Amino acid sequence: MIMHSSVWPSHRPARVSIIGAGKVGSTLAQRIVEKNIADVVLLDVVPGLAEGIALDLMQARGIERCDRAFLVRSAYRCVFGTNNYADTAESNVVVITAGSPRKPGMSRDDLLQVNATIVVEAAKNAIAHSPDAILLVVTNPLDVMTYLAWQASGLPPQRVVGMAGGLDSARFQAFIAMELGVPTVDVSAMVLGSHGDLMVPLPRYCTVSGIPITELMDNETIERLVERTRNAGSEIVQLLQTGGAYFAPAATTCLMVESILFNQSRFMPASAYLQGEYGLKDIFIGVPCRLGSSGVESVLELNLTETERAALHASAQSVLKNIQRANEIMSESQSTTRLLLALWKLGAHKSTDVKRVDLTEKIKRTGEKASDYQGIFDKLEQEGAIAFEIKNRNRVILLTEKGVQMLRELLNTDEF
Ligand SMILES: NC(=O)c1ccc[n+]([C@@H]2O[C@H](COP(=O)([O-])OP(=O)(O)OC[C@H]3O[C@@H](n4cnc5c(N)ncnc54)[C@H](O)[C@@H]3O)[C@@H](O)[C@H]2O)c1
Repeated sequence: MIMHSSVWPSHRPARVSIIGAGKVGSTLAQRIVEKNIADVVLLDVVPGLAEGIALDLMQARGIERCDRAFLVRSAYRCVFGTNNYADTAESNVVVITAGSPRKPGMSRDDLLQVNATIVVEAAKNAIAHSPDAILLVVTNPLDVMTYLAWQASGLPPQRVVGMAGGLDSARFQAFIAMELGVPTVDVSAMVLGSHGDLMVPLPRYCTVSGIPITELMDNETIERLVERTRNAGSEIVQLLQTGGAYFAPAATTCLMVESILFNQSRFMPASAYLQGEYGLKDIFIGVPCRLGSSGVESVLELNLTETERAALHASAQSVLKNIQRANEIMSESQSTTRLLLALWKLGAHKSTDVKRVDLTEKIKRTGEKASDYQGIFDKLEQEGAIAFEIKNRNRVILLTEKGVQMLRELLNTDEF
């Protein structure tokens, strides 16, 4: 029997849902479990993946003595894996790590097309079940994905934040420590701007035990470390050959989750919504901000030199360009899925073989002419969502794998 004393009230434990149980998502889950700071719900589209990882982590809890860390009042904590958004309900924090990572030679921006739809659907579905959550985005290209997630979620911008600046700063911090042979804990580093080649490391704001690095290293050395920081993600992608970094990304995300859950109001660079700060508007980009239980509590405006400000604005221009591109991609893909929905409504879902549906007959039965649908068919064929076949002099429409996948995503069902 579970006993609750009046001095030790039973609280609903904090819950963190992680969408995407890949490298970053599962490592983040492990960190949260080992720190014993919240229940974790892991969600992935791949059947069994999140459930398997959650069970594995749950079984490690006893060995790692995770329950010893009574940081919060609840002793029993749970890790749960699912592919159903309903199981993520009432999360305090939702972290989106779903999507593809980079392959060698790819920039983060190359992931725009593939990850935009995934992030938008994840944000919509997760926030529908956890309307009070703080949304923390990790998927790349980070600043653009954070913007899309914010738009899709309908949340106030302060409740949406992207993880990147903390990671880029940690990378700069590590390189400074490695160069000087000092403990990383003594080094403090600051990187602003987009999470990409145009990020803006700020040596003037980097210190070793309070001493600016500009007094400890010559310009040439600093420039070399700045360049290595800009390419730090690619350096790891190149070495791993499959996928990207995940230990440091998960550690940074965990720090942000803690600051939100425990209302720590920590200052850290993160992708936040700007409304005029730094002369930038309607954009998510890396800036120092205060993170607490209400999300981004404030954005700190540093005094930048002309050169630093110009670099931040160049970085912002590339994010704005990609936001526009992402919106175009989204509206194109939405119109395709709407067209597929029209076919589905014509009866495709009732067929035993959803990939082979003679819609020509069905259209005739409803009194419409197949030619009325020519525009729809042409568009879907161009998108690779349907194909045609002639059978008994009738044109049979085949939903391709891509079409079936699009419908599944649109309807959020595995019925097909
Ligand atoms: N912001 C940063 O600093 C930073 C750092 C590291 C990685 N990333 C990004 O994070 C993302 C994840 O990286 P990773 O290494 O974990 O990749 P991964 O391939 O190991 O994991 C991604 C997971 O997302 C899942 N997924 C795909 N579509 C989904 C959907 N519709 N719903 C739910 N789950 C879905 C996949 O099945 C997979 O398990 C990538 O986009 C990567 O570039 C960002």
